[in-house]
Parts: sequence; structure tokens; C-alpha cells
Amino acid sequence: MVPRPRLRYEPRHSGANMEKLIIDGGHPLHGTVRASGAKNAALPILMATLLAPGEHRLTNVPKLADVDSSLSLLGRIGCPSLEGDPIRLDTSRIAYHEAPYDVVRKMRASVLVLGPLLARHGEAKVSLPGGCAIGVRPIDQHLKGLEALGATFNLENGTIHGRCGQLRGAEIQLDMPTVTGTENILMAAVLADGTSVIHNAAREPEIVDLGRFLITLGAKIEGLGSSDIVVHGVPSLAPGARPYAVCPDRIETGTFLCAAALTGGDIEVTHTDPSMLQAVLAKLTEAGCTVTTTPTTIRVKGPERLKSFRLRTEPFPGFPTDMQAQLMVVAALADGTSTIHENIFENRFLHAAELLRMGARIETSGNAATVHGQTRMTGSPVMASDLRASAALVLAGLAAQGVTEIHRIYHLDRGYEDLVAKLRGVGARIARVSDGMNDSEQMSAAMSA
Ligand code: EPU
Repeated sequence: MVPRPRLRYEPRHSGANMEKLIIDGGHPLHGTVRASGAKNAALPILMATLLAPGEHRLTNVPKLADVDSSLSLLGRIGCPSLEGDPIRLDTSRIAYHEAPYDVVRKMRASVLVLGPLLARHGEAKVSLPGGCAIGVRPIDQHLKGLEALGATFNLENGTIHGRCGQLRGAEIQLDMPTVTGTENILMAAVLADGTSVIHNAAREPEIVDLGRFLITLGAKIEGLGSSDIVVHGVPSLAPGARPYAVCPDRIETGTFLCAAALTGGDIEVTHTDPSMLQAVLAKLTEAGCTVTTTPTTIRVKGPERLKSFRLRTEPFPGFPTDMQAQLMVVAALADGTSTIHENIFENRFLHAAELLRMGARIETSGNAATVHGQTRMTGSPVMASDLRASAALVLAGLAAQGVTEIHRIYHLDRGYEDLVAKLRGVGARIARVSDGMNDSEQMSAAMSA
């Protein structure tokens, strides 16, 4: 069946600008949560479908605003989709080769169309993503890798315009192990003529998942999960015979585990993969939590009092920057002083100032934060600044005494599927309310969990 076009340009929760979260905190959370599919695997996999003309079926794709943005972008390119599980995508035809500014400004990951469009279509235009709340985030390494494969680029009116003939295999040495940079180059190299090697490649599990998906399309790739990825180019790719299941979201998993740690609760996350979360589980153990795992589940019991720790964010398998904000909340309620070094992004402490409003004691200097643990935090109105900072504020609200109000929650819709429902399922008193509700209506919504 050929999917009918389904183009959406509105965010999944179109009223999200006017909504806020109300949390009545200080209650231990108990129960089981099912992990969703990984946002950061689903996005490159959706873009990679462009490489193989035909109908693709993908399962375990999380329902997120960023997935909507990706499907909308693919729709504009000429590849309609049908929502459901599996999601169906028809990439038979490429009618257009641009990711315009209004899409890219909503989702930086739109840059992931560059590699697939060049490899299949020979031309791609992507509005330059620019910086975002957490850092400058250049894409020079993406372009360097694609140039090595034979593409040429011009910058015209804020838009990167790439062109190429048949791409040719090359040795590419990345300056740093960039996640989406590795993905863009990998997606282009699979259709290049000859063998490519990506040295200093990023090793994140989401890249391994993308690589596995590409292999189901007929790509020849070795070294996934290592720093040297070898790609033997093939002339063409075709959709796999079976639906492809996106890997679990390790950051969502880790966020729920922190909720158990912070509330002195006991949460088991199912349909996940502990091997993707070793650094996070080690840190939660160091903080005094009891961690038990099976191949697909992780259970964390929070201690009476958390312990302080030292943390440095690093590329995988080091501690993920996407869990730094959440662990800062853990540190804020730990016994003693913790230090946190953010080594990936230059401006990823925006949550610290909001946590101060809730009674945390945190000093930041450059990429270092010193967190003096307190025995309690108190609910207050706070403002979310980016996706993971928003998650940290939710965690702080769950742990704090009293009521927390979180504004600008549209960030959460980009990366956490059904967050409120999942938290209510483990006993959280949390509600998503419109700014128009009066105080008693808001409280009764939060208390009715
Ligand atoms: N960098 C460059 N030049 C490049 C590419 C990256 O200087 O060409 C720098 C960045 O500025 C940064 C560092 O290298 O300082 C690493 O950035 P990376 O490219 O690895 O990040 P990304 O690919 O843009 C992905 C995730 C982020 C996650 C980072 C780090 C996706 C769609 N995004 O971003 O996820 O924080 O890797 O693990 O996969 C999130 O989900 O909240 C999120 C921000």
C-alpha cells in the first residue's frame, strides 16, 4: 500500500506554549515504566530511509514532536508517511531536496538529511542550524567528511548547498567524535564507490542502531560501536523485508531511574538495555542507590540519603551529557559536595540557576559546577530552557517539598513520550495544565494521580 501524504507542520502539542506542569512533590515513586524507543536513534533512522527507495516500516518509534518534525520534513521532500506502529514511509520519489529554516530552527537534527540526500540525489540544501541554548554546535565535521567523499558546499543566504556526482570512498579523520556528524558521513558512505573509514567515530548506541538499520537495507558496515567504522559502499539499497525496531531510549530510562533515586522510591524500567547505561548506573550506585538489572530491565531503589560524587561528561562509553542535568539534581540532594564537569557542550548549565530557586546550592564556573547537597528542596515556579534541563526540573519538582510549576514545557514534548502519564503510573502527582486554570483547579489536577 502506498501511504497517503500526511504532512504536519504543527508541534505534537500545539497548545504547548500556553501549558505548564504542576507537580506536588516529596512523595516516593514506585512501580514499573516501559522505555520508549530512542529519539536520537529514531531521527537518523527516519532520515536514512531516504537512501533506499520504496516502502519502509519502523516500529518502536517514539511519539515526539521531533519525530513529527522529521516526518514533516520527509513529507516536504516527497516521502509521505502513515502514522501507526509500524510507521510506514514511502521514499520511492524525491521531489525536493531542501530542509528550510522553519524546519531546522525547530529541530537541529534536520541536518541529518544532508548525507542521505547527497548520496541518493546528488544535491541537498539545509539551512545552517546555528547555535542553540546549550552551545554553538557547528557542523564543520559533517561537511569535512562529506567533502572527503566528493561533495562540494556553498553557503548561500544562511543555507548550505551541497552537490556531488557519484561519491567515492575515503579515509576521514574526525577532530572529535561527533554523534550526528558520524551519522551523516556513515549514511553518505554506504552508497559511495569503494571503501570508507571513519576514524575517531562516535560510539554512541544510537549510531550502532542506525548502522544496524542500514545493514538491513543492504549496507556493508564493520566496526559499529568502535572508533573506526569501515564502510564498503554498495551501488544501491532497498527497504528491509521486516519492520525495523528502534532501540530503547537510554536517556529516558536514566531519567526515570533518577526519579526513583531522588524520591527514595523504587522503579523498574522495562524494554530497556542496561549495556547502554553502564556509566549512569555506576554513578547511581556511587550515589547510594541499589541497582539491579536483567538483559532488558533496570531497577533502582533510592537510599535514605544520597551520597555526593564526581562526574565528568564524555563521549560514549563515558557519562552522557544528556544525563548531566538530571544527575545535578541528584547531587543537589546528596550528603556532601559533588563536582560536575561538562565537557561536551559549552553552555549546558542553564538548569543550575532554576535549581537555585528551589533551594539547591550550586556554583558554576566555566564548564565546572560545585554542588553542595541539601537535605531538602522546595517547590517553586521555574522555566525550562532545553530538553534535558526540563527533565531535570521535573525531577527536582518530584523530589521537592510542595508545589513546583514548570513553564515552557514544549521542550519536553521533543524528547519524552507520554511523560506525565508514565510518571503518574509510578505514583507522581503531576499534571499538565493550561495557564488559564485557576490555582485550585491546577492542584486538583496534580493531586488526582
Ligand atoms: N562539534 C563540532 N563540529 C561538528 C560537530 C560537533 O565542533 O561538526 C562539537 C559540538 O559543538 C559539541 C561536540 O562536538 O561540542 C559534540 O557534539 P555532537 O556533534 O556529538 O552532538 P550532536 O550530534 O549535535 C547529539 C545528540 C544530542 C547529544 C549529543 C552528544 C542527536 C539528534 N542529538 O547531538 O542530543 O547531546 O549528540 O551526545 O543525536 C538531546 O537529545 O537532548 C541532545 C541534545
